[in-house]
Amino acid sequence: MKQTSWEIESIQSQSQWARVFSPSNIALAKYWGKRDVKLNLPTNGSLSVTLKHYGSFTTVEFNAAFKSDELVLNGKLESPDKLLKVKRVLDEIRNSAGESRFARVQSFNNFPTAAGLASSASGLSAVTLAASHALKLDLSKKELSEIARKGSGSACRSLFGGFVEWKRGSRSDGKDSVAEQFRPADHWNLSALIAVANQGQKNEASTGGMEHTRLTSPYFSAWIESAEESVALIRSAIDVRDFNKLAELSESNCIRMHASAMAAFPAVFYWQPATLEIMQRVWALRKSGVRAFFTIDAGPNVVVITTPEDSPKVQAELARVSGVQLLKTQLGEGARSFEASEWEGDR
Ligand code: DP6
Repeated sequence: MKQTSWEIESIQSQSQWARVFSPSNIALAKYWGKRDVKLNLPTNGSLSVTLKHYGSFTTVEFNAAFKSDELVLNGKLESPDKLLKVKRVLDEIRNSAGESRFARVQSFNNFPTAAGLASSASGLSAVTLAASHALKLDLSKKELSEIARKGSGSACRSLFGGFVEWKRGSRSDGKDSVAEQFRPADHWNLSALIAVANQGQKNEASTGGMEHTRLTSPYFSAWIESAEESVALIRSAIDVRDFNKLAELSESNCIRMHASAMAAFPAVFYWQPATLEIMQRVWALRKSGVRAFFTIDAGPNVVVITTPEDSPKVQAELARVSGVQLLKTQLGEGARSFEASEWEGDR
């Protein structure tokens, strides 16, 4: 196998490194609220699907010559204040390995930043896996999920493919608050269309948005009261592949999460006119018998879940919304090693 210049340089400088790809995931039952801010322990369980084509390609390199941890994101060196989540993961991995060297993290997201996919989910799960591989740690997926969660909550789900549940857990150390796959991707052949509706506004990020909601929204307790039941019902609908049930339950979960955020003071409001237009078009499609439903994270963009057969109809309808860009994908596998031969010329 041909070695890249980076590999040759790394061997010469005795560094240890690894590369991985980790996908984004989209929650059908949302994580929104923390019972422990430091450990990212959620107030409720959540449930997601792992997206096949969109995520982070990430290299982590430990080298005695490095003077501090560094993050290069999409080719740009990030300032130290952007490193907090990455550092939390690196520190966990260093502790487990008895390692003291600093690390350089290089990460590329293959989706437009404006797509509003949870780049922290793919990014932090990728850092977890790559750092553990670089230091040759033999961690179980459960242990990796726990470490990724400390970086960013939703990242604990990207280690797994298909249909994934992150349990709330009850322990204060978070050992029981990890994700696991409950059905593989081929359990149900679903398609996803990401409708990028972002018109350039910068939104409140999820970390701050959910904490502000927890602290100030009178609707937060109502959200939490129904959240666990929602996870159980969504899981059952997936188990029996009941599309219409899954559609109604997932949309309701999404709207309740957003309603709790909208009721915060001051409001945390992520939707734009195009967001609502897409929601209404999806409802009209479903009324006419097309299998499609939406879900929305902490931003204006909408992910529409459909079937491969109905996907062209959904695409045609959403293409009519002005200024919206559509990205197509399916459900896929979780984070995994990325062979050097598949990755050339990035440095
Ligand atoms: C709306 O995982 O980004 O996407 O744990 O603070 O890093 P932190 O938050 P993050 O929040 C994701 C929120 C969400 C819903 C979800 O993915 O479940």
